[in-house]
Amino acid sequence: MTPADRPVTREATVTAPATAPALDLAAFPPGFSWGTATSAYQIEGAVTADGRGPSIWDTFSHTPGAVDNGDHGDTACDHYHRWPEDIALMRRLGTDAYRFSIAWPRILPGGDGPLNPAGLDFYDRLVDALLDAGITPSATLYHWDLPQALQDRGGWTVRGTAEHFAAYAGRVAARLGDRVTQWATLNEPLCSAWIGHLEGRMAPGLTDLTAAVRASYHLLLGHGLAVATVRAAAPAASIGLVTNHSTVAPASARPEDVAAADRVDGHVNRWFLDPVYGRGFPADMRELYGVDLPERPGDAAVIAAPLDWHGVNYYFPVTVEDDPAGPVPYARDVRLPGLPRTAMDWPVDPVGLESLLLRLTEEYGVRRLYVTENGSAFVDRPAPDGSVDDPERAAYLEDHIAACARAVRRGAPLAGYYAWSLLDNFEWAYGYAKRFGLVHVDYATQRRTLKSSGLRYADIVRRHRAQAD
Ligand code: IFM
Repeated sequence: MTPADRPVTREATVTAPATAPALDLAAFPPGFSWGTATSAYQIEGAVTADGRGPSIWDTFSHTPGAVDNGDHGDTACDHYHRWPEDIALMRRLGTDAYRFSIAWPRILPGGDGPLNPAGLDFYDRLVDALLDAGITPSATLYHWDLPQALQDRGGWTVRGTAEHFAAYAGRVAARLGDRVTQWATLNEPLCSAWIGHLEGRMAPGLTDLTAAVRASYHLLLGHGLAVATVRAAAPAASIGLVTNHSTVAPASARPEDVAAADRVDGHVNRWFLDPVYGRGFPADMRELYGVDLPERPGDAAVIAAPLDWHGVNYYFPVTVEDDPAGPVPYARDVRLPGLPRTAMDWPVDPVGLESLLLRLTEEYGVRRLYVTENGSAFVDRPAPDGSVDDPERAAYLEDHIAACARAVRRGAPLAGYYAWSLLDNFEWAYGYAKRFGLVHVDYATQRRTLKSSGLRYADIVRRHRAQAD
């Protein structure tokens, strides 16, 4: 298909619902970034184009039964060819920042070794076009698409992968660092480690506690090593780490449930924050996992490399009860009545985002924060004219931005908010069935349509700018 054949972006005919007066936009300082986020494998497609090598997600998504409906990222949103249209959509939203990830297998198809210049050229063009559009690029170096060649050599369970990651990061920063100043090393190491190696629901699909703990260690080590290589290659870089978190509450005041909540907090929050903020891996969790960490002298300081900012991805809170016979961390989720749920069956509670931002500020001393992802999947029903009215997603967005405003009023140093996601896209093991986009994608035609939630976001961004000017 040539560019001329490609369908044009469609306008939603629904109107933006009025912004609720409760939204305290004045809490956000002038210069606050309003962005959208995506990741390479979820949108790019073009998995064999221009010398890209296979990643663990190509392998996993083509494994029968691994992904709902047999979906895979071979074409996804075809962003690799349609990125000009997608930047035009960002302009329609009025956002000033865009968080995307760089596909390691496009840059180094074998994971290490020879560079693939065409892979770097793609991101080079994207970055230039973003800057021309007045949109600040925020690049994430790893959003789960490990080159398969490195998986074949042990993946994140071996130290070499952390070292190869740092080398790759430095090479990318050397090429783009004159224009990209905002860098994240990893996206959500929790998902790579726990969901990919312990629960088996994501690539590489392992269910092995030892592998999972080792992977978590090497991911954080790779993060710390990459901070150094990116800084060396791009001295102006502002570098952060993106982690996903949930607030964790016990289902009852029973001591067993309270202890279970503490274990889950250790598993999803403290394990990934304590070492990065110089506290080392939490002793209670080391004991619970019972797996020797592959530690070497000096690693703790590498993992705790000072950062310029921290990115929080927040979607839902969890409520748990003790489950001594269950898998690590011996707790199970409890459904509390009263909270609405998204199409992912995730409970909706914006207060969790406010709490997490304050926890990062007060307990971990973070001096610059971003909400690097926040959003919701709901079932969209396009009208006969193609427009998509999605009031639940719009409400989720606005209620979570309101929670950010409260956190800012209470002292959280929040510098920006990125809505997940710009586009409906490949939602990992759920395939294309779950839609998080502010823009609807018709996968059969690749037609993009701004949803009413996108219009609501554009309205929020515009109103904040008008106030701040
Ligand atoms: O789609 C994912 C994204 O890749 C990482 N954070 C959570 C999103 C929604 O599940």
